[in-house]
Amino acid sequence: MIFFKGWDYMIRQCTDSDFEIIYAIINDAARKYEGIIPADRWKVPYMSAKELRHEIDEGVVFWGFEEDGQLAGVMGIQHVKDVTLIRHAYVRSDKQNRGIGRKLLSVLRSRTPRPLLIGTWADAKWAIRFYENHGFKMVSGEEKDRLLKKYWSVPDRQIEASVVLADSKWFNPA
Ligand SMILES: CC(C)(COP(=O)(O)OP(=O)(O)OC[C@H]1O[C@@H](n2cnc3c(N)ncnc32)[C@H](O)[C@@H]1OP(=O)(O)O)[C@@H](O)C(=O)NCCC(=O)NCCS
Repeated sequence: MIFFKGWDYMIRQCTDSDFEIIYAIINDAARKYEGIIPADRWKVPYMSAKELRHEIDEGVVFWGFEEDGQLAGVMGIQHVKDVTLIRHAYVRSDKQNRGIGRKLLSVLRSRTPRPLLIGTWADAKWAIRFYENHGFKMVSGEEKDRLLKKYWSVPDRQIEASVVLADSKWFNPA
C-alpha cells in the first residue's frame, strides 16, 4: 500500500520482501546507541533477524520511506489494546536529519485515531527531542513503568532504562 508518492520519494507499507533491508536499516541506524545506552543492553546485531521476525509476528507493521528505489528509513506501528505504539523508528545513518523521520511519523500518526505512545531509551536524547518537537510529551516515571508493562513486552532492565512519550490524545482523551 502506498500512502504518499512524491516525484522523488514514496512512503509505503513494507512487505515480506523488505525483510532484509528493514533488518539492515535497523542495525545500521542502531549503531548510534553504542556507548550511549547501558552496555548490557547493547549487542551486535542490535536486533537479530529472529527478534525482528518476532516483532512482525506480534503485529508490528513497518512503513518505509523509499527514494531512488531503495528504502532509507522505516517506522513500525502496532495497535495494542486501546492505544497505538510507534515501534522501531530507524533511518539509515547517512540519511538522518533530512526530514525522513518527520515524514514517516506524520504518515503513521494519520493512520490511527487512538492515542499514540512511544518508548525509547532514556539516554537517546536525540530521539526524545525528535518526538518532543513533534508534540509528544514524556510521561512520569511511575506512569512509564505501568505503560511499559501494560502495552509492551520488555524485560525489567529495559523498563528501568526507558522513557515513554505520549501524544495529546493520551493526555487529553475526548
Ligand atoms: C530518530 C530518527 C528515527 C529520526 O529520523 P530522521 O530522519 O533523522 O529525523 P528528521 O530528519 O525528520 O529530524 C531529525 C532532526 O533533523 C532536523 N532536520 C530535518 N530536516 C532537515 C534538513 N533538511 N536539514 C537539516 N536538518 C533537518 C530536524 O530539525 C530534526 O531535529 P530535532 O530532532 O531536533 O527535531 C533517526 O535519527 C534515527 O534512526 N536515529 C537512530 C535510531 C533511533 O534513535 N531511533 C529512535 C528509536 S525510538
